[in-house]
Amino acid sequence: MNAPGKTTYINWAESIDLKTGRPVENPGIRYEEAAVELWPGASGGHNWQAMSYSPRTGLVYIPIQQMGTRISRDPTEQSDTAFNVMGLVIQPVVRRPGDGKGSLVAWDPVNQKQVWKIQHDHFWNGGTLATASDIIFQGTADGWFNAYRATSGERLWRFDAGLGIIAAPMSYSVEGRQYVAVLVGWGGTVAALSEVADVGWKYGAQPRRLLVFALDGDKELPPSAPRDMKVHALDDPSLVLNEADVAAGRSFHIVCASCHGAGFRAAGAPGPDLRESAIALNAESFAQYVRAGAPDRGMPPFEWLSEDQMRQLHAYVRARAREALGTREPYDPTKAAAQATPAKAASQPGTGDVKAGL
Ligand code: HEC
Repeated sequence: MNAPGKTTYINWAESIDLKTGRPVENPGIRYEEAAVELWPGASGGHNWQAMSYSPRTGLVYIPIQQMGTRISRDPTEQSDTAFNVMGLVIQPVVRRPGDGKGSLVAWDPVNQKQVWKIQHDHFWNGGTLATASDIIFQGTADGWFNAYRATSGERLWRFDAGLGIIAAPMSYSVEGRQYVAVLVGWGGTVAALSEVADVGWKYGAQPRRLLVFALDGDKELPPSAPRDMKVHALDDPSLVLNEADVAAGRSFHIVCASCHGAGFRAAGAPGPDLRESAIALNAESFAQYVRAGAPDRGMPPFEWLSEDQMRQLHAYVRARAREALGTREPYDPTKAAAQATPAKAASQPGTGDVKAGL
């Protein structure tokens, strides 16, 4: 066994104790004692999408993501990018260049060091495949399917797949002809991290596909909607918002955020952006839809929500739509904390009995 190197920024442990196999923790990194900033954050450094190994190069090809998480028990830290998981406020942290983005790292496991690295533009990229012809395939959040030289990382080819790719590719051969297949589809935990993982895919606008490539392939993909970073928010200007409801909805919206996005900023999947929803414009149609859900389409029924909770969630969606339209000031937790306790009190209701989550 050799001492592990670091593939991404880590602040919670200095090393692994090779006798016990336990990490040697840095002091002051437990949120039970005080608010902490952890690196890697809640999404980990490389523990989601599949990595691959090439016995030919001896290297491991790792999809890395770099982002921190602030974890606090202070409810006044609740912001529009944070989750309140039963009283624990969890917030993405992006500080340095490369934070909030992913990369592809070729890692030498014997010498525990990086051999080459491709910096990606976005956070949530695909798994990797290493082939016997020394090619590494990986899809990216922005929908490119790439082939790199396994020894150097030089990009040899890429294909615009029209939607984000998170799956790992695979290769197989039939009657001597080699194929490379990849599932093109966007989702996973992107909604929870929508602040960094929103790259402009819109729910249902781009088709999910299984794409299969061969050297002499000649098919073309039919065109589909491009990425769109604009929020096409709807608003009913006559609606008067109750600020206590907005605050309660903010602290409580984790019940919806794993699909509709932190702060109701969606990331294209698994659910649509509620700021753009006509159903969410009106309190009654919102409550009716949310109670019944659309289970055959992935929207669970929420018949257990109280009328107050429903009204609070609706108020928060409406506030966020106005913020997207620029007709309302975004919420600033530092200002709110500086103001007195009413804001604190307003952020409490609803947090005690959250059922759904990640
Ligand atoms: C497990 C994922 C998931 C969760 C959790 C979830 N939703 Fe949804 N929601 C969806 C999906 C998927 C759709 C789209 C259904 C369709 O295609 O018609 C949707 C649609 C909606 C719509 C209709 C949007 C439109 O205009 O078509 C509303 C409103 C809505 N959800 C509100 C909520 C609220 C409020 C919560 C929290 C109480 C919530 N959802 C939680 C997945 C989810």
